[in-house]
Amino acid sequence: MSEAVVVTYDEPVSPQEFRGGRSSVKWTRYPSDVIPLSVAEMDFAIAEPIAGTLIERVKASDFGYIDSPGPLAGAFADFAERRWGWSIDRSAVRVTTDVSTAIVETLRYGIPAGGTVVINPPVYTAFYELIDEAGAVRRDVPLVVDGTTWSMDLVGLERAFADGADALLLCNPQNPVGHVFDETTLAEVARLAAVYDVLVISDEVHAPLTHPTATFVPFLSIAGSAGARSICVTSASKGWNLAGVKCALLVGGDERSLAVLDSFPDEVTCRTSILGLHANVTAFSTITWLDDTIRKIVANDQLLARLLRDKLPDAIYHRPAASYLGWIDLRAYGLGLDTAEILIESARVALNAGHNYGAAYDGFVRINIACDAILLIEAVGRISRFLHHRDG
Ligand SMILES: Cc1ncc(COP(=O)(O)O)c(C=O)c1O
Repeated sequence: MSEAVVVTYDEPVSPQEFRGGRSSVKWTRYPSDVIPLSVAEMDFAIAEPIAGTLIERVKASDFGYIDSPGPLAGAFADFAERRWGWSIDRSAVRVTTDVSTAIVETLRYGIPAGGTVVINPPVYTAFYELIDEAGAVRRDVPLVVDGTTWSMDLVGLERAFADGADALLLCNPQNPVGHVFDETTLAEVARLAAVYDVLVISDEVHAPLTHPTATFVPFLSIAGSAGARSICVTSASKGWNLAGVKCALLVGGDERSLAVLDSFPDEVTCRTSILGLHANVTAFSTITWLDDTIRKIVANDQLLARLLRDKLPDAIYHRPAASYLGWIDLRAYGLGLDTAEILIESARVALNAGHNYGAAYDGFVRINIACDAILLIEAVGRISRFLHHRDG
């Protein structure tokens, strides 16, 4: 997208033109004139090979149950080896319906009833609900931010561990700020987890979408040598846009963690969609599509940075180093707690409210940039016009 297109585009845009045949909540939650940039799914068409796999499975009437990862363990292990140099013991891979279920069941079976789970706000809103669902207690150790640079509060983390935390629910790459934790930080997290015998559940669902400027380090690739207990939860659901077909993986990083996974009832595996399993198998070898998608996301990130600089100069954009979620500090515009609601009502743009990711984030919003560039141009234009109008 060239600079000229950004500044000259002024045709009226109807968001629904970009909906395609989708019936998902991203496209149905708001009135049709609202630009939906909230729910974390991409507007791009899925990869042809995955569509082919799904059509083939449908034609084969292949709608039965599964009782193991089958070919998915090898498909993911090959991907992890090639992409990140992470060697996985294939016999340590399990499956379930989705990453959320993987987290809840790991907490149910991996920590004592009513145990304490550390999270690092601002963080994926569902983490709050999943910890409640598992009957666990939350302990916040917020990330530290310096300008737009995020880091783990290792001192706070050690304090929480020393106070008796049972698990750390790590989000790497991080949603909503798109931070990719570096190896030194993860090594220290692993060391602390080993010292205090804390189970680390590493949610790595956004990792396949790491941008070329960052290096993703799988937590389990360093946890073992540190002596930390660890379980990776992941899926092709974000990277290849397959949330609706319901399949996720769990990888046990050590004997004790594997024993946790093996204590799950069989139903946790059997509920997985067979279509999801086959779609995931194909996804992990569909690399050209993945790299093309990352290129589109990076281009949209650059576009959004320019748009904000030109049209909302007081916004502070925290640019993602992975995936397609951006974090924007709009506090300078004084919309307060209701920033996201006001933008839906008055600018007709749906973003996620920052305070749902952490109590300190009133006036922040999360934006989904995995859409046509025209929608980003229109969304920033609408917000800018609304604010100018408001300010007279
Ligand atoms: C960090 C993170 N984990 C998990 C999920 C949900 O994954 P699933 O649909 O597989 O439950 C999301 C969805 O946006 C996410 O951002």
